Amino acid sequence: MIQGAPIDAARARELGVIDEVVQGSPRDGGVAYAQKLADEGAPVRRTGDRNTDTAGFSDAEVAEYLKSQARALKGRTTQEKTIAAIKAAVDLPLAEGLKREDELSRASLKDRESEALRHVFFAEREVGKIPGLPPMEAAPIRKAAVIGAGTMGGGIAMALANSGVPTTLIDVSDAALERGLGVVRANYEVTVKRGRMTADELEQRMGLIEGATSLSAAGDADVVIEAVFEDFELKKRIIRELDQVTPAHTILASNTSTLSITELAAETKRPAQVVGLHFFSPAHIMRLLEIVRGAETSNETLVTSLEIARKLRKIGVVSGDAFGFIGNKMMQDGYFREAEQLLLEGASAEQIDKVMEAFGFAMGPNKVNDMAGVDVGTKVREELYKKESRPDPYFVVSDALTAQGKLGQKSGEGVYSYKPGDRTAYPNPATEDLIRKLAADRGIERREISDAEIEERCVLPLINIGAQLLEDGIAYRAKDIDVVWTAGYGFPRHLGGPMFYADTLGLKTVLARIEHYQKQSDYYWKPSPLLVRLANEGGTFEGYDASRA
Ligand SMILES: NC(=O)c1ccc[n+]([C@@H]2O[C@H](COP(=O)([O-])OP(=O)(O)OC[C@H]3O[C@@H](n4cnc5c(N)ncnc54)[C@H](O)[C@@H]3O)[C@@H](O)[C@H]2O)c1
Repeated sequence: MIQGAPIDAARARELGVIDEVVQGSPRDGGVAYAQKLADEGAPVRRTGDRNTDTAGFSDAEVAEYLKSQARALKGRTTQEKTIAAIKAAVDLPLAEGLKREDELSRASLKDRESEALRHVFFAEREVGKIPGLPPMEAAPIRKAAVIGAGTMGGGIAMALANSGVPTTLIDVSDAALERGLGVVRANYEVTVKRGRMTADELEQRMGLIEGATSLSAAGDADVVIEAVFEDFELKKRIIRELDQVTPAHTILASNTSTLSITELAAETKRPAQVVGLHFFSPAHIMRLLEIVRGAETSNETLVTSLEIARKLRKIGVVSGDAFGFIGNKMMQDGYFREAEQLLLEGASAEQIDKVMEAFGFAMGPNKVNDMAGVDVGTKVREELYKKESRPDPYFVVSDALTAQGKLGQKSGEGVYSYKPGDRTAYPNPATEDLIRKLAADRGIERREISDAEIEERCVLPLINIGAQLLEDGIAYRAKDIDVVWTAGYGFPRHLGGPMFYADTLGLKTVLARIEHYQKQSDYYWKPSPLLVRLANEGGTFEGYDASRA
């Protein structure tokens, strides 16, 4: 109840929540069970007369349990109401207990946390419905191929194998392949060790993943997902070759984080069957799949991509094709860019991370940067600068760290410093010096920055860029953005996602605060016209979605 985690019928039977589990026809099973009770002369059993075993439910034990769940329940209050309702059920006579539960439940329905969680719940179920898409059948996916057996490719192959899809995993050399397959096996072994998979199942999954070192091995796949390095020329070369070696019906997908799907598609003779399938790391676990629609991507390819998401038990959100799609655009140009700006202006990495963790993210932006690899963003920007520019300062700290080989956890030092075998982030005086120098070079006056300012400056750009993505038609609905950020980027679900959160703040307030920061940078803080319009009309993003349904 506290975690909101469903239990299956067998476990419910074990716990005494239900009386019997029957196989076959529920009606016949129900009648047979009733007959058995009648034959046994089973007595009437009133819920109100039941004795409840309250072992493990003292105040101290409840407090201890909640402490153990603190990370998952950060910022949440529902569980306190749940516990109060259970206490009422145990301590009060039935009628009074029911009344108390009813009061608690009604109060809960009205609070923001509950509204936000329901918003996310329904949004996750609606994002797969694409406005204007005629009903059509998805093409069958009988076999898949994944190119690149690195971090992402291995995880994508696991996600496919977990759904029973035979998959060919392809890398350049036997060594690279062996390393990749080794990581896949090791990941499965952890699952076996945790008792969530049997050794036989492990072998069966591994049996579904076949390794190869030539792209021609993708020749019998219905979908090929490319996950090689984020290098446009390399990706173009690979998709041209895939276009040669696969049959005409095969969908060619790229797991690129930011590159143009339309331009990749233009390298092939089948641009209608080229699509972005942007997985998140770890790909066999993370539930989000951004489906990127290139200029030529057909409705059929889109429908099949949504079906692939469903089959892999992921949430597919469709995005238009522009730098960073929905999620990475908001992260790069909004949240993370502002977090770096705050470093230059005088906030410490620890302070920023602490504030954003208190807001509800599992990890602050600086820790995420170090964990993902500081160079990952630098490579993304190198590709970006070939087409677009950004006013300075734009990730000058991260790019300087990359140039010095301080790539985060993997190199022992990045924004923070690390000790061998320990992922704890320690303050890094060398990086602090670097930041001070980069700030001085730019004449930025350093000052003390309040926690409130940090939170605002990290969150408001998400809302503003989100509004711009709606305006530009990159995201269909505000709720699509909310799902991307809650399912893929760790935005707290109990705040409903950035656009829902904006509605709860009030768009007038949001706009006023954005205009306040606009003085700092007209480029990074220019209010989106859609936000201005909605704020002036007294509108909401929820209303915007409804008007477009
Ligand atoms: N790491 C992430 O968190 C993440 C998240 C989403 C998307 N992505 C994207 O996924 C892609 C892969 O990222 P990654 O982190 O898995 O990289 P990685 O470096 O871990 O793996 C890349 C793999 O591609 C292989 N490769 C390179 N050239 C090849 C070729 N010509 N043929 C076959 N294989 C080749 C490499 O040997 C390596 O095993 C990138 O486009 C990246 O932007 C990464």
